[in-house]
Amino acid sequence: MLKAAVIGVGSIGQNHARVYREMDGAQLVAVVDANAASAARIGGRLNVPHYSDIDKMLEEQKPDLVSISVPTSLHFKVGMDLIAKGLHVLVEKPITSTLEQAEELCDAAKKKGVLLAVGHIERFNPAVMELRRRLREGMALGKVYQIHTQRLSPYPSRIQDAGVVIDLASHDIDLMRYLTGEEITRVYGETLQSINSDREDMFNGLMRFRSGTVGVLNVNWMTPTKIRRLTVTGARGMFDCNLISQELFFYENETAPSQWDALSVLRGVSEGNIVGIKLQRHEPLAAELNDFVAAVRDGRQPTVTGLDGLETLRLALDFVRSGADHQVVDEVKVMP
Ligand SMILES: NC(=O)c1ccc[n+]([C@@H]2O[C@H](COP(=O)([O-])OP(=O)(O)OC[C@H]3O[C@@H](n4cnc5c(N)ncnc54)[C@H](O)[C@@H]3O)[C@@H](O)[C@H]2O)c1
Repeated sequence: MLKAAVIGVGSIGQNHARVYREMDGAQLVAVVDANAASAARIGGRLNVPHYSDIDKMLEEQKPDLVSISVPTSLHFKVGMDLIAKGLHVLVEKPITSTLEQAEELCDAAKKKGVLLAVGHIERFNPAVMELRRRLREGMALGKVYQIHTQRLSPYPSRIQDAGVVIDLASHDIDLMRYLTGEEITRVYGETLQSINSDREDMFNGLMRFRSGTVGVLNVNWMTPTKIRRLTVTGARGMFDCNLISQELFFYENETAPSQWDALSVLRGVSEGNIVGIKLQRHEPLAAELNDFVAAVRDGRQPTVTGLDGLETLRLALDFVRSGADHQVVDEVKVMP
C-alpha cells in the first residue's frame, strides 16, 4: 500500500486528502498546512495525523507520494524540496509561476527518478474523456475546424499570486493540447484588468494548430455565474460539452459530406439530430489521483506529466505577453 500525504489543505487540498482517504490503492498518512488550525481541522475530520512542518511529517510518516496544493507561487520551492527527498509529486496546476522554475522542477524529477504529475484535472472529466475517445476515432466529426472554451466565474479573492490566464485558462490550454494532440503554430491574446489590482482577470485567446484547427478561449473572473463549456465544431457537426454537469451532446450536420457523396460538400450545413451521449459520471479528482497512484505503483508516466504542465505554462505565459504587447506569438517548438 503506497503512503500518501497532502501539503496544503485549503480549498482544493482538502479534497485531495479526502480522495486519498477513500482510495483503495493508497493510504493517507498525513496532512500538512502552514496554518496549524487548518491542518488540525482537516486532519481531525479525516482522522489522520496533521502537521504544520513538512520535514517533521516526512520523518515521522515516510510517505511515498505527495499532492502539493499550496498557493501557486510556492509550488516550485515545495516541489523542489520534496523531489530532492525522493518523493513522487503531484503538483496542482499551474505547475509553477515561471517557465524557468517549471524546467528546473521537471529536470529535478527526471534526475532523481521520481514521477512528477500536474493537476490538469479536466482531462479526467468523463465528458472530456468520452469526447477525446470519439475525436480519436475520427469518424464522428471528420475534420475539426474549431475548439471553443468558456470558463467564466466570479473572482475568487483567495487567489492573490496568479492572473486568470495561468490560473484558469491553463485548464483550457491543456485541454486543447490534449484533445487535438497537435503542434501549435501561433497564439494571440487580449487581456483586461479590472477586479484584480495587478493581474489580468479577463482573457480572450486564439490559437492555431498545425492542421489549421483554431482554438478560441474565453476566460474571465468577472462573470456573476459559473460557466464551463467546450464545443468542438467539425465537418459532421458539433460536440457540446458541459464540464460542470458532465454532459456531452452531439449536434449532427445533416448535410455533412460523406465518402459516398462527394458533391454533398456543396450543400453546406443544416440542423440534424441532437444526440445526448450517455456517460458514466465520476469525480475527476478521484480519477486524477488514482491515475497518479497507479503510475507510481506501475512505474509508468502519469496522464499529465511535468512536461505537459511546462508546455501549458509556456503557452499561457505567451498569451499573457501577447495580451500586454498586442502581438501574435509564433510557436516554434510545441509538441504535445
Ligand atoms: N485543479 C483545480 O481545479 C484547482 C482548483 C483550485 C485550486 N487549484 C490550485 O491549487 C493550489 C491551491 O489553491 P487553493 O484554492 O486550494 O488555495 P487555498 O489558499 O485555499 O489553499 C492553500 C493552502 O496552502 C497552505 N499553505 C500555504 N503555504 C504553505 C506551506 N509553505 N506549506 C504548507 N501549506 C501551506 C495555506 O495555509 C492554505 O491552507 C493553487 O495552485 C491553485 O491554482 C487547482
